[in-house]
Amino acid sequence: MTAPVSHKHVWEQGGPDTLLLLHGTGGDEHDLLALGRELAPGASLLSPRGNVLEGAMPRFFKRLAEGVFDLADLERRTRDLAAFVREAAESYDFDLDRITAVGFSNGANIAASVLLRDPGLLKRAVLFRAMVPFEPEQPPRLKGTSAYIGAGRLDPIIPQANVERLAAILRDGGAAVTLDWQPAGHGLTKADVDNARDWLEKQAVGGRR
Ligand code: MLT
Repeated sequence: MTAPVSHKHVWEQGGPDTLLLLHGTGGDEHDLLALGRELAPGASLLSPRGNVLEGAMPRFFKRLAEGVFDLADLERRTRDLAAFVREAAESYDFDLDRITAVGFSNGANIAASVLLRDPGLLKRAVLFRAMVPFEPEQPPRLKGTSAYIGAGRLDPIIPQANVERLAAILRDGGAAVTLDWQPAGHGLTKADVDNARDWLEKQAVGGRR
């Protein structure tokens, strides 16, 4: 089976759990590999690069301004990413039931968009510094989905109410949501990583333990 071509990516074969790593604006497919290894030692890693360029900075979808998204492009890129994940599962022979998205900032936003647009594809998601990607017309069917949201009380990009709204949308759809506030800005802290790792361990993701 040939590797999927829609996204430049890294595939690191490990155990039966797979982390889908989604970088922030200006990152690439190498950005979150170390974080993935730290969060779930022994897991397989699938790390695509976003297909949109803002200047020289890769992203997963276009935006009109900071925090203002091009919703048509977001919809298209969300479907493209979902198709990539399904194709990768076939190519690399991993179990879609054992995938966990781990996204930071723009990567967390497209992960949230996949949760809303294609419920059930991602069973678990770690969303670091995420916001509402779009308002769904009706609650998504997210029973059986678990999400960890790592938010920063001092985040200059994402208002607290926006994070609360994201958690509410996911909960309304039936997802189990852990919302973890850090006394931090947009950047990740050690506490974010430690708490997300604990959450993943409770979800039995990682394979080593
Ligand atoms: C986005 O565009 O997804 C958010 O504004 C976060 C970011 O700066 O990437």
